[in-house]
Amino acid sequence: MTKVKHLLYSSLCLILIQACSLQKTTAPILVERPDVQCIWGSAKLDICEYASKEAIINGFLKEMTLDEKIGQMTQSVWHNSVSPEIIKDRMIGSIIHTEGLTPGPKVSDWVTTFDTFQAHALKTRLGIPLLIAVDAIHGQNTFEGAVIFPHNLGMGATRNYDLIRRAAEITAIETAGTGFNWTFSPVIAMPEHEHWGRVYEGFSEDANITTKALIASIQGYQGADLAHRHTIAATAKHYLGDGATIGGVEGGNAIISEQALRERFLPPYQAAVDQDIGSIMVGFNSVNGINMHQHEYLVQNVLKGQLGFNGVVVTDWLGGTRWGEPYTVINAGIDIAMQPANHDEFMSKLKATVIDGTVSMERINDAVTRILGLKFNLGLFKDPFTKKEFSALVGSTVHREVARQAVRESLVLLKSEANALPLKSTDKIAVVGEHANNSGLQSGGWSIHWQGQKHNYATATTILDGIHGFAPEAEYHTMGCTPGMQANKVVAVVGELPYAEFMGDSTNLNLTETQQNMITQCKSLGKQVIVLLISGRAMTVTDTIKQSDAFIAAWLPGSEGAGVADFLFAANGFKPVGKLPTSWPEKYEDLPLAPDAENALYPFGYGLNKY
Ligand code: BGC
Repeated sequence: MTKVKHLLYSSLCLILIQACSLQKTTAPILVERPDVQCIWGSAKLDICEYASKEAIINGFLKEMTLDEKIGQMTQSVWHNSVSPEIIKDRMIGSIIHTEGLTPGPKVSDWVTTFDTFQAHALKTRLGIPLLIAVDAIHGQNTFEGAVIFPHNLGMGATRNYDLIRRAAEITAIETAGTGFNWTFSPVIAMPEHEHWGRVYEGFSEDANITTKALIASIQGYQGADLAHRHTIAATAKHYLGDGATIGGVEGGNAIISEQALRERFLPPYQAAVDQDIGSIMVGFNSVNGINMHQHEYLVQNVLKGQLGFNGVVVTDWLGGTRWGEPYTVINAGIDIAMQPANHDEFMSKLKATVIDGTVSMERINDAVTRILGLKFNLGLFKDPFTKKEFSALVGSTVHREVARQAVRESLVLLKSEANALPLKSTDKIAVVGEHANNSGLQSGGWSIHWQGQKHNYATATTILDGIHGFAPEAEYHTMGCTPGMQANKVVAVVGELPYAEFMGDSTNLNLTETQQNMITQCKSLGKQVIVLLISGRAMTVTDTIKQSDAFIAAWLPGSEGAGVADFLFAANGFKPVGKLPTSWPEKYEDLPLAPDAENALYPFGYGLNKY
């Protein structure tokens, strides 16, 4: 306990004897009594007299030095590369966990790590708690053992907004239970070109579906009140036009007319603002030639001014220094710079430009007001630590059942002939293809690792596991059918390997030759072939669809492979419900397809509802 802190504590104790005796043992940040609210950890005693959010924030603003304010505006620290001491030294206001070493295999390792960071924040002069962020975008997908839902594109295919809400609620619980209070989700891009390696992160190319899904998602993450214990702050990203770049290039340029801006691109963000979303992340991309990190018109004027966004605008990765000088980013209206590296550069350059007047104190205070406001809304001044009561729920059976439902509802049946489906437990079944028995491949990017992984992860059920739940005798051959094979029904599970941003951009949306040959060979042996496509986007697989007896777009189902089996076996009378969230191309040259394109192989919204 520092000297200032010690003095403050003693003075407080004289005033609030009752509260402080409680505080000694439990050390909460805010001691609540009906007649008084008091921030423990604040250097300013008179803050104790204030009860309202506004008064508390103003109290802090008056007290904070410029360094402390810039610290709040800096998101830094990869917990695995630096010591928590940096929080104290630089007065950092938020941290992020993403790719790289994890705190350990157990939930308790994560809780200890992030609570240690939090404890360091509370030891700073003002004791302002940390925002602790993670890319929990389809479940708490960074923790091996959490339930992992289908990626958003599959969730969009369900058209089941209650389910999307419930999935986000579960994600919030598992995220809170592993030490976080902020997720960088949902992605509300409306992908327009299958070249883009992030198509699967968006719910749909359609603005209405995206809007309904994002409302459900925000409600799930943030609940009725962010201060409730099971909630976390959500982030709509990436503002604006990330899915509309020319050629579907990650971080490219999107040409957006004023009319398209108003009619297509802004309504989803307006809906997010109306839901009181905690934060919005700007994209790597440019709009009409201006990078979003510098887009003062779209951020300051439109988002904050016209749409009335009162939350926090955060940069994307290293965005405080990557696209231009820090002052340009802050003057564009961005509040927090995500600086897992070179935070010193960001902080010192920003400070110099505040001192010389290039960035106004008003702009800095606006940013800090929003950041402290989010912390207040989250209840962090009262209880900043991990909500440990949720730790035991991480990866629970109840949560997995919901994900399993999401999987079966997300599958889109594009073709169904010759009574190939549904399968019966008594059928002679063979399952082929490496995607069938690999939870890493079935989950795609942002699953355990940033770019995903090509091997199984703990506690997930593969598609083959799921099929064996219905037909224990089903054969499995990684490489394809063999002449002596008894099975007459073959489930061929094929598709893309995992990828995430940048690495996923591609002009080749075909199956590999090996996968195509495998299907051709099974057909030539007279088998009925049911193709299950695991992919983060619509692929150019026209010939394979023609060859197959049944064809299912399965997207990236996540940890619950049993949901795929529910679909294949029509478990408990299940009937297909999934509808295409994007138009499906016949060939690559036809891209990008307009939503109502007449040359689509399958139009947006297509999906058979019986086998
Ligand atoms: C991605 C964001 C993500 C951030 C933090 C960036 O590269 O574009 O979507 O939230 O990294 O991991």
